[in-house]
Amino acid sequence: MEKIIVTSALPYANGPIHIGHIAGAYLPADIYVRFQKLMKKDVIYICGSDEHGVPITINADKLGITPKEVVDKYHKNIKESFEKMNIGFDIFSRTTTEIHKKTSQKFFTELFENGYITTDIEKQLYCEDNKKFLPDRYIEGTCPHCGNLNARGDECPKCGKWLEAVELKNPRSNLCKSPLVIKETKHWYLSLDKLQAKLEEWINSKPWKENVKNFVLGWFKEGLQKRPITRDLNWGIPVPLSDEDAKGKVLYVWFDAPIGYLSNTIEWAEKSGNPEKWKDYWQNPETRLVHFIGKDNIPFHAIVWPAMLLGQKTKYILPSEIPANEHLSVEGEKISTSRGNAIWVDEFLEHFPSDYLRFYLASKAPENKDSDFSWKVFQEIINNELINVTANLFNRVLTFAYGNFDQKVPSLTESKLQDEDRKILAVIQKTLKEAKELYSTYRVRDVSRVILELARQGNQYFQEHEPWKLIKTDREKVGNIIHICIRLIEAVSILYYPIIPESASLMFEALDKKRKIQEIDLSSLVDIADASERPIEKPAPLFKKVEDKEIEARIKSLEERMKSVSEAETPKTEDSLIDIADFKKCVLKIGKVLEAEKVPKSSKLIKMQVKIGAEIRQIVGGLAPSYTPETLIGKKVAVVSNLKPAVLMGLKSEGMLLAAKMGDKLELLTMNGDIEDGATIS
Ligand code: 2FM
Ligand code: ZN
Repeated sequence: MEKIIVTSALPYANGPIHIGHIAGAYLPADIYVRFQKLMKKDVIYICGSDEHGVPITINADKLGITPKEVVDKYHKNIKESFEKMNIGFDIFSRTTTEIHKKTSQKFFTELFENGYITTDIEKQLYCEDNKKFLPDRYIEGTCPHCGNLNARGDECPKCGKWLEAVELKNPRSNLCKSPLVIKETKHWYLSLDKLQAKLEEWINSKPWKENVKNFVLGWFKEGLQKRPITRDLNWGIPVPLSDEDAKGKVLYVWFDAPIGYLSNTIEWAEKSGNPEKWKDYWQNPETRLVHFIGKDNIPFHAIVWPAMLLGQKTKYILPSEIPANEHLSVEGEKISTSRGNAIWVDEFLEHFPSDYLRFYLASKAPENKDSDFSWKVFQEIINNELINVTANLFNRVLTFAYGNFDQKVPSLTESKLQDEDRKILAVIQKTLKEAKELYSTYRVRDVSRVILELARQGNQYFQEHEPWKLIKTDREKVGNIIHICIRLIEAVSILYYPIIPESASLMFEALDKKRKIQEIDLSSLVDIADASERPIEKPAPLFKKVEDKEIEARIKSLEERMKSVSEAETPKTEDSLIDIADFKKCVLKIGKVLEAEKVPKSSKLIKMQVKIGAEIRQIVGGLAPSYTPETLIGKKVAVVSNLKPAVLMGLKSEGMLLAAKMGDKLELLTMNGDIEDGATIS
């Protein structure tokens, strides 16, 4: 029997997830999996959090916690968001497990033994203070072409030239602002060039979505290059080689992440009690491997990951399809955490049920072009399509049947069937067929449209016949109308199940108390069975209308967040004026340095114990280029005493000393008179 492995891109455990993530890689996959489960296919849905990489270590430094603490926190947070969204993974694990480490190292070793991994020495920028090589996006400096002082590690925003970070003059870290030095370092590379021929042969046989295929063909034309797959970092999976040079090196996060699809399946098999079961999927040529991703991840899934699989000694299947979605914007603007316009899933679900978000994102799925989330459109879609069409049909038909036909589905009187009734029965059959075709080809937007259209036709059919009047004169005819409407609602509920599982289950179970919706075999369902005389439930309201005031509150909260973020980000110019009240927010005091010592492994930092009146505080500052620790002891200095504590190289700092700066030279503001420490400066 054909098997299917469905995966969604592993989310970074470095922050919560927002609705754009859901729209891109998780909801479309979950819908597909639910559909295939209804089709009684042997499908497993695999995911987990992506827990390595430099950004996680940088976030950890910023927060003064360990990378492990960062990923523990967000793994839990993300997992909960997915659960609340009813994303039904068979496993949601993580890339910091032992199984994943073992599997990733095996991947490296087999590629290495097959000759697909080479080494090279490269020059990279290194931060002495934080003992880290920095990726380009954390580097800034002076543009070698136009002299712009604020060029980035990859390009100069002023003259527009592309740059290599090592070309920058006076390179510095945009995190800690320390100067960076060029250092040589050895790395291991995946020889994609040696795998290109194999890859081309495989890809040419794939009927893939245009956006994926064009991308890949473009890369082939230029010729594939070797890519570095190791990093100098103390967070990640160690390079499994015994060379001295491999010490302190870990696998690049993008090398180990896709292996998570496999290692998480192995973990799933172990947990199921049959540890070999993963082989029935990953080593079975009859298995389809379907990777749902956002479009940014196409190169890795269509080139690098298949190359990694092709270069193994162990045989694995290759991706069969890579449904890649475009982007979702919010209120017309690209989602950006730094702009403050991300709508977090947790936050959304505090206000509305998950099916509302699923319904919206399915009907506006960013399949072939970018799509937008707008609160006003959300309100319209939920109120007009989900509530006025679908819920309305359900309520009016069931209430009518419950009240007028003895809490049962009325029987069908064949002799009284007219063309208009037969037409609706035919529409049900046609929609079943069409929806199956659309679901199986990942067209969620279209499938949403055809199901809604079926519900619309049901409403119209009910309305036109005015059964509440007709019942007085022709009970059999009304029985037929209600019977047909109930069959239509059953079809709507089954077809909506992959999209809005909670509400569709409620609808279905009100019509059929004996079965669960998951028991339906959609593969053989060409029509809805005759439901005559089946008991039905009194319908409870399925949905709550989205009110204007709720939407206004959401819009306001979004605007306020964007405003507060942009105020925090606006660079302060030298001549921007402030009120005395602003200045008074800063509490400045005299402090006396009691102890001072250099922070080990840092070229700049000095750790001090500073007495401020009755209090002694630890303050860490970048004074080493200008002062030796001994010369600081006894100085009376100006301290910003109400600053939130910060953590520098793992050391807590509770305050800041004021100093004047000229080039590299710092001079502390000190007091020479007999003023006591603890005195306020104003
Ligand atoms: O872009 C991302 O969010 C990555 N964490 C996706 C990884 S997908 C896969 F390779 F695991
Ligand atoms: Zn420039």
